[in-house]
Amino acid sequence: MIGNRQTPPVHAPSRNGSRSQDPRDAILSVEQLTVSFDGLTVLDELDFSVGYGEMRFLIGPNGAGKTTLIDVITGKSKPSRGRVVFDGATDLSRRQEHHMVRLGVGRKFQTPSVYSSLTVHQNLEVMLGFRTRITGLLGRLRRSDDDRIMATLEEVGLQNRARDNAGGLSHGEKQWLEIGMLLVQEPKLLLLDEPVAGMTRRERDRTGELLQSIGGDRSILVVEHDMDFVRQFARTVTVLHLGKVLSEGNMEDVQQDPEVVRAYLGNSRTQRPQAARLNTRREPADPAPVAAD
Ligand SMILES: Nc1ncnc2c1ncn2[C@@H]1O[C@H](COP(=O)(O)OP(=O)(O)O)[C@@H](O)[C@H]1O
Ligand SMILES: [Mg+2]
Repeated sequence: MIGNRQTPPVHAPSRNGSRSQDPRDAILSVEQLTVSFDGLTVLDELDFSVGYGEMRFLIGPNGAGKTTLIDVITGKSKPSRGRVVFDGATDLSRRQEHHMVRLGVGRKFQTPSVYSSLTVHQNLEVMLGFRTRITGLLGRLRRSDDDRIMATLEEVGLQNRARDNAGGLSHGEKQWLEIGMLLVQEPKLLLLDEPVAGMTRRERDRTGELLQSIGGDRSILVVEHDMDFVRQFARTVTVLHLGKVLSEGNMEDVQQDPEVVRAYLGNSRTQRPQAARLNTRREPADPAPVAAD
């Protein structure tokens, strides 16, 4: 069926980012993207793409250019060269940051930014434009919008917290609420920067399951440092290094790529080689006793 994007197309990602893909097959196609700051090239003729319905993980040593890439995709930084083709047509690099929601691009920063004094439900109302954070209600919530909010809360597992103040949520719950705040705007592409940072193991596992369940007709690009998490939930991983794709494929292959190992070791000045970031994780303890879900 033409236009059916429920099923992710099968890509055959090759190592070293040499995959060539028709931009029409990709929700996101980054082409020859170059970004420099004060003469320092941060993204270097980068080619990179994400397929429809795909969940892609982006990893790489500190300073590789991951955040800069997300900044360019969302119109926050401008490239000196190249383009970012979104959904087969729009060049996102030429658009302003505030156009992104309407275009169908949702970005979540690392730190949760929910409105603590509003309820969980009201946080989603703000995203739909029915409520301002300061003055309260703007208009009447239609039944269909309330249904949409409740369906979103169910999707992120917060349906029982709808009337609770967001300020009282745990760190993990706040992250899920923020993902819900993006989802309620019905994005085609979600960009998530370190969604499991600071989470307990249980929260992290639930987040992985959540990301898998919200995939399908949405595409997700996840920047993540937590290699256990990536190993557990990623199908395709792209390794960025010095502003270029260093390696791409499944986590097992990527992890064994000597160039990837070298890139990580070269950046782990403060760690023993075996403990380089590619292999370790620090995690906060789960609170005890653990409440039933
Ligand atoms: N606004 C900026 N001005 C100058 N240098 C920047 C700016 N943003 C990022 N950089 C530099 O670009 C490089 C890549 O940074 P970044 O994209 O944040 O890497 P990553 O997210 O992979 O750790 C770093 O050397 C960083 O210092
Ligand atoms: Mg970063």
